[in-house]
Amino acid sequence: MTSLLITGIAELTTHDPTGGGEPGPFAVVLDDDRIAWTGNARDAPDCDTALDAGGRAALPGWVDSHTHLVFAGDRSAEFAARVAGRPYTAGGIHTTVAATRSAPTADLDARMRRHVLEAARQGTTCLETRTGYGLTVDDETRAARLAAASIGDLDGVDAVTFLGAHVVPLGADPQRYLDLVCGPMLDAVADHVTAVDVFCEDGAFDADAAARVLAAGAARGLAGRVHGNQLGPGPGVRTAVACGAVSVDHATHLADDDVDALAGSDTVAVLLPACDLATRQPPPPARRLVDAGATVALASNANPGSCYTTSMGLCVALAVLQCGLSVDEALRAATLGGARALGRDDVGHLRVGARADLQLLDAPTVAHLAQRPGVPLTAAVWRSGRRVPP
Ligand code: NIG
Repeated sequence: MTSLLITGIAELTTHDPTGGGEPGPFAVVLDDDRIAWTGNARDAPDCDTALDAGGRAALPGWVDSHTHLVFAGDRSAEFAARVAGRPYTAGGIHTTVAATRSAPTADLDARMRRHVLEAARQGTTCLETRTGYGLTVDDETRAARLAAASIGDLDGVDAVTFLGAHVVPLGADPQRYLDLVCGPMLDAVADHVTAVDVFCEDGAFDADAAARVLAAGAARGLAGRVHGNQLGPGPGVRTAVACGAVSVDHATHLADDDVDALAGSDTVAVLLPACDLATRQPPPPARRLVDAGATVALASNANPGSCYTTSMGLCVALAVLQCGLSVDEALRAATLGGARALGRDDVGHLRVGARADLQLLDAPTVAHLAQRPGVPLTAAVWRSGRRVPP
């Protein structure tokens, strides 16, 4: 066990309701993989090693609760067509499914880990990913297994979700595919995942199918998640809430009933503002949701089709600049909100005992994240107490 004292912190965000108020500079102690102490630098204990943050801001690492990183292939031609005016549809998913099925496992693993490291270098210290580009029992199991095997590695994920119900594979019968997802496919992946997800949207799965997938997951002890209301109004949010899903993700096109349903539930609205930007959808209604009392998370939705970015800093900036959240609200959504969506209380904050997931910004305050969008402000990152290589 080694302890590290970080001093010279100009602004410290811990999300500890019992602390704060007094002026800095602040300090943090990391003991092995845990946060051991936070407070005013003058009261800091001695440690094995020390580092001067030089007047930077310190905050919890991002918790990115929604990515699709087990994939192969490239969809820049589809992106170029979209930029030229073609709308985003879920049809491009099939392009990635074909590439992913034919890719060697080692290639899928290497690419996933490269993207996790890319995210970590930008401050993401806890990251979920999901299957959904296999759509056969063997290919979905391969994706779930390789992602789960990376848990605990510096370039690995923290949680894996099963998204066999992403779209119906080309040429498959919808009813028979749903039977496969809810039966043999779920049985094959269940040991490698902690949640089940379903894309509830025109062109994917309807409300009845989504409810069936969630029930099949719950019967195997898996949390439920729903891709809902991404491309237009629909039943995704209400289905997620009615089924007790832990989250509904996207939640872009919401009626007042949807907002009320989320506000009266424990279902987290996982908002993906970079995806809405990249697919020319309106920004997610974060302000309405927060004002109504719903729990909101921000996530990257990193994937090769609708949103090819791992930058949670961009998501925070968009949440402030486009969605009307304050910097503090956006920060909470990108840390504590993500932790809620993943059902974790050891990440997303710097309370004593938390996992030592910390980032320093090349800025004196977190407000710079929104004030300087697009500028790489991550100065240093620790994940489970381990320094992420720059
Ligand atoms: O979250 N909505 C469905 N799934 C992904 C898109 C994946 C893709 O286009 O490849 C999403 O946007």
